[in-house]
Amino acid sequence: MLVRGFASDNNAGIHPKVLEAVINANKGHRIGYGNDEITAKVVQKFKKLFGAQVDVYLVFTGTAANVLGLSTFAKPYNAVICAETSHLHADECGAPEKFGNFKLLTVPTTDGKITVEQIKTQVHGIGDEHHIQPKAISITQATEYGTVYSVEELAKISGYARENNLFVHMDGARIANAAASLGWENLRPAFQAGCVDVLSFGGTKNGIIGGEAVVFFSKQPDFKFIRKQGMQLASKMRFISAQFQALLRDDLWLENAKHSNRMAAMLADGIRKIPAAQIAQKVEANAVFCIMPNNLIRRLEEEYFFYTWREIDETKKEVRLMTSFDTEESDIERFLKLAEDDWD
Ligand SMILES: Cc1ncc(COP(=O)(O)O)c(C=O)c1O
Repeated sequence: MLVRGFASDNNAGIHPKVLEAVINANKGHRIGYGNDEITAKVVQKFKKLFGAQVDVYLVFTGTAANVLGLSTFAKPYNAVICAETSHLHADECGAPEKFGNFKLLTVPTTDGKITVEQIKTQVHGIGDEHHIQPKAISITQATEYGTVYSVEELAKISGYARENNLFVHMDGARIANAAASLGWENLRPAFQAGCVDVLSFGGTKNGIIGGEAVVFFSKQPDFKFIRKQGMQLASKMRFISAQFQALLRDDLWLENAKHSNRMAAMLADGIRKIPAAQIAQKVEANAVFCIMPNNLIRRLEEEYFFYTWREIDETKKEVRLMTSFDTEESDIERFLKLAEDDWD
């Protein structure tokens, strides 16, 4: 399917600057396994972004970033508290349990976010050898529902975590979209508040070919062993690094995310004008969840692929529409025109 649609931000292509960086890295020979100068430069770029104390490791996938990042803190008798809708729980095929070797304790959510009150329901039996020992909280920013934790919400969760000796993991597959939404031009102050211990910093959904960064906010020298044993040490690391070099240069990561968020806002504005459709979640990043009648969905599906999230009743469903760095205004106009024409 060549049409630029709204199925997912990972259906998008590669940003030209990223592709160019990969081509530039494709010269001569360089030492493998991350012992090359491009990787060294990327690590410095991450330090510039987050502060000199961070420890950064590149991996292939977001699932690996989440699972390996968390497994640094969680032992086999530990649990990680997360939303039932989190990618970690819903979309990682049990990798946390199999490869991370820790249990997940989930809490319900209607908008992808979790609260301290909900987290508390899972924090009990501490010190009791019969009970799984909660060790970390995992939150997704921006969430799987396109919503974004506010600074205050983050502070409450991290405050609770500190008081209860829990680590905080942030699944930031879309941290760029969250930063754009919150007006974080500079990530350093946001993260220096000590709100997070380990962040999965997404690249794949924001214009690169593939790769994610595991960013620890304190030194984690053992992670190099965890990454290798976890099968995520790229021998030709320079090509993952080159992509991040381009993404972090001149804040391309933020520019891409600002654009995709703006496109989502535009899409949501258009959908609000369609009488039969109804926006189902706050549109705070690059996802638009909306409820549409089945006949309209069928008509749109003739030309576009997108995901149906859940059935509301026999006449309508909730669908997820996502924008990406390469969405153009004309893509949205075309989609909305089809929706409006069908409705009229
Ligand atoms: C919230 C979230 N976290 C992590 C991921 C990373 O997934 P993958 O392992 O496919 O790179 C995704 C991808 O869909 C995601 O939506």
